Amino acid sequence: MTTGELLTALWNDYIATTPQAERIHRLLAERGEVVRNDHVALRTYGIPGIGIAALARPFEALGWVEQAARYRFTDKKLVARYWQHPDPNLPKVFISELCVHELSAAANIIIDRLVSQLPAGFRERPDLPWAGRPWSVRRAEYESLLLESEYAAWVAAFGFRVNHFTVNVNALTTFPDLLALNAFLLDHGFTLNESGGAIKGNVSERLEQSSTRADSIEVELDGEVVRIPSCYYEFAKRYPLPSGELFHGFVPASADKIFESTDVKRA
Ligand code: NI
Repeated sequence: MTTGELLTALWNDYIATTPQAERIHRLLAERGEVVRNDHVALRTYGIPGIGIAALARPFEALGWVEQAARYRFTDKKLVARYWQHPDPNLPKVFISELCVHELSAAANIIIDRLVSQLPAGFRERPDLPWAGRPWSVRRAEYESLLLESEYAAWVAAFGFRVNHFTVNVNALTTFPDLLALNAFLLDHGFTLNESGGAIKGNVSERLEQSSTRADSIEVELDGEVVRIPSCYYEFAKRYPLPSGELFHGFVPASADKIFESTDVKRA
């Protein structure tokens, strides 16, 4: 598999649950933009065999290199790391995992039941980052996870897939800044995540980000079909460090608010 094939597989899986991303991508292309991605983001449970390291493996095999930064989101009980490819045209890979042992015993019982359904060999699948949902989850389980952790409920409902792609705003040629891009999206009827303001971060943090609110799609929860938020599209503008080099890391306070783009109660 090539890097191009891997990213195409992730993109096709992503737009199947996030039709707005394909519409936005097309609108940008119609303006003459060539869309490049800043990063792709994946979510998982912090459990051996399916945690961050497991999801990173297919990317590492194709040349992505783990970076030193370690991120912690205390309120959301998450940790995250990211990978960068020597080819600067390829997106970074941002992978977070839920520290499941910080959740209640009740939540752990639910997550244990999900993980106990993993088929033999699942953890070793080369397509683990887009392997889909390998377990059945009951609506009551989804809702009880939701009360404690939106992220836990999202992983239960969607399993293994990209949570979002992020447009590299620096590479766009017809938008002077993120504000102009946001205005374009609002004009076309898209809804932005306003948690912490439409634009998270600032020039002094070297990174500005915005995102749409997640699409809601129909998901089957143990025979019942429910509409729940799936994935969103993100936009990132990066600024140079004092060294002149572009900042490639992430800003936890901003990412913390971006995570809320899939929240049910705000949708
Ligand atoms: Ni992101």
